[in-house]
Amino acid sequence: MMNSGTNRKVMLVTGASSGIGEATATRLAALGAHVVMVSRTDERGNRARQKIHRAHPEASTDLLIADLATTAAIRSLAGEFNAKYGHLDVLINNAAVMTSTRRKTSEGFELQFFVNHLAYFLLTGQLMAALKRAPAARIVNVSSTAHSRGEIDFNDLQMERHYRAYDAYANTKLMNILFTYELAHRLAGTRMTSNCLHPGVIRTGLMRGVSPVLHTLWQSLGKFFKQPEEGAETPVYLATSPEVEGVSGKYFRYCREFGTSRASNDRDLQRRLWEESERLTGYRFDV
Ligand SMILES: NC(=O)c1ccc[n+]([C@@H]2O[C@H](COP(=O)([O-])OP(=O)(O)OC[C@H]3O[C@@H](n4cnc5c(N)ncnc54)[C@H](OP(=O)(O)O)[C@@H]3O)[C@@H](O)[C@H]2O)c1
Repeated sequence: MMNSGTNRKVMLVTGASSGIGEATATRLAALGAHVVMVSRTDERGNRARQKIHRAHPEASTDLLIADLATTAAIRSLAGEFNAKYGHLDVLINNAAVMTSTRRKTSEGFELQFFVNHLAYFLLTGQLMAALKRAPAARIVNVSSTAHSRGEIDFNDLQMERHYRAYDAYANTKLMNILFTYELAHRLAGTRMTSNCLHPGVIRTGLMRGVSPVLHTLWQSLGKFFKQPEEGAETPVYLATSPEVEGVSGKYFRYCREFGTSRASNDRDLQRRLWEESERLTGYRFDV
């Protein structure tokens, strides 16, 4: 199925090896986009890519491998993308993790904080030049309704004192929205847009890193959850629909605009998180 608006636009999806990211990559490829799939491993990425090509022989895809848990990997991913492509029409920051115990990346960051927030921030920054070269680029950040439980404590941003898995996750999903809104402010007056979304409660492997009890509960409730294809509807909508052309700084569920928590709308929090993200990564983000 071709869509003239989507045809061969370059769209990059992180976490394209499974769940919502894989379903999003599949749908975008079916609509005629050139989909750059980013996967942590070659094996899982290739498996997803082959599945797409079996279902849609006309699909146009590429696969880039990056463990989005280090600044070096993100830099190298962006470098590889920039060497291959002149521009980027759509960036979908989707990859995320949930871990029951506090884990550190090799650079000393709390893992969820890095993969779920700083990786969105850094990758977007490092692809900004390519996004600027597109006629009207869209940045789409996958967040969650879990953000409403999130809190930002700049004295303990990485939960060194009291780590609780779900709270750490919820905080990062709030950060996705704060980042999206701040980016939209900074992009005002350009042709680029920044939006975020909740995909629904979807049957995926997201909870595989949490405690066995919670994981079993999640799996047993799974039959009531929606499938990844339904989870892909809102990211695909934000990536392709003419209805959201020029729309920026908004949060969507079920392909409709929704309000978000009071904390997510706090301009001071938005600015401070941005500055703190720059400080922690040592990366100056030029819009
Ligand atoms: N499922 C839900 O009900 C739900 C609800 C609200 C929001 N969300 C959001 O939806 C997004 C996708 O999650 P999902 O439910 O589809 O879960 P998922 O199936 O676990 O997918 C997560 C993806 O992120 C990738 N990933 C994790 N850590 C990575 C790393 N260090 N480097 C590179 N890639 C990494 C995973 O790669 P591997 O395949 O290698 O593990 C996987 O492809 C997340 O942002 C999540 O917060 C999900």
